[in-house]
Amino acid sequence: MIRLQKYLAHAGIGSLRTCEQYIAQGLVQVNGQTVTVMGVQIDPERDTVAFRGRPVHEAEAKVTILLNKPEGYVTTSRDQFGRPSVLDLVDLPGVRLYPVGRLDYQTTGLLLLTNDGALTHQLTHPRHHVAKTYEALLQGEVRGEEIRQLEKGVVLDDGYRTKPAKARLIGPKGRNSLIQLTIFEGKNHQVRRMAKAIRHPVLHLKRVQIADLSIGTLKEGSWRKLTEKEVQDLKRACGQSR
Ligand code: URA
Repeated sequence: MIRLQKYLAHAGIGSLRTCEQYIAQGLVQVNGQTVTVMGVQIDPERDTVAFRGRPVHEAEAKVTILLNKPEGYVTTSRDQFGRPSVLDLVDLPGVRLYPVGRLDYQTTGLLLLTNDGALTHQLTHPRHHVAKTYEALLQGEVRGEEIRQLEKGVVLDDGYRTKPAKARLIGPKGRNSLIQLTIFEGKNHQVRRMAKAIRHPVLHLKRVQIADLSIGTLKEGSWRKLTEKEVQDLKRACGQSR
């Protein structure tokens, strides 16, 4: 017998904590019955467990892929407006992948998808400060002083002051400016809101790197599996060398 949340976590649905939340939210069924209380034990040989209506199988092999997300896709599995999901771009039969964090509908570039709940947790936990690098086309001519403001921290629309970041002007693009920005936190729509704070709204946003992993020459809409070494390097980058 095994505790339900542990079974779900082993199956790659999420961290133990996340799986407890899923149970509390009524997203988990055991033998067709929704379970919302903690402490339920299941027998993996006899009981059938479903998450969001789909059967869960314990200990799927861990798979992590890197997708170059095109514009016009959501990074959730379902969307209230019926817009296409990044999951539609990945055809890996029998493997249930979940996006690691979010990219906006219009944002392009590096998105990781995995069934490794622990990896997702480590990469997205604020404590680990994993570096995420973006190339952003900003409206207007961005000055050196504004680049320094982005680096030092700017105050967002909700009063939050961003943590130190790395920023560099790549160069002008017509009347606009291409910059590279590396942030070590992940507030909602952070790059767009930082750009607004210096009064140069984002015209186009692409994520090009997470920790040492870069998008490389992968075409938009294409994906590839990470190598074991790449996964290990990512884990090391967030202090998880298990
Ligand atoms: N920051 C944003 O504003 N949007 C993204 O999609 C990612 C980071």
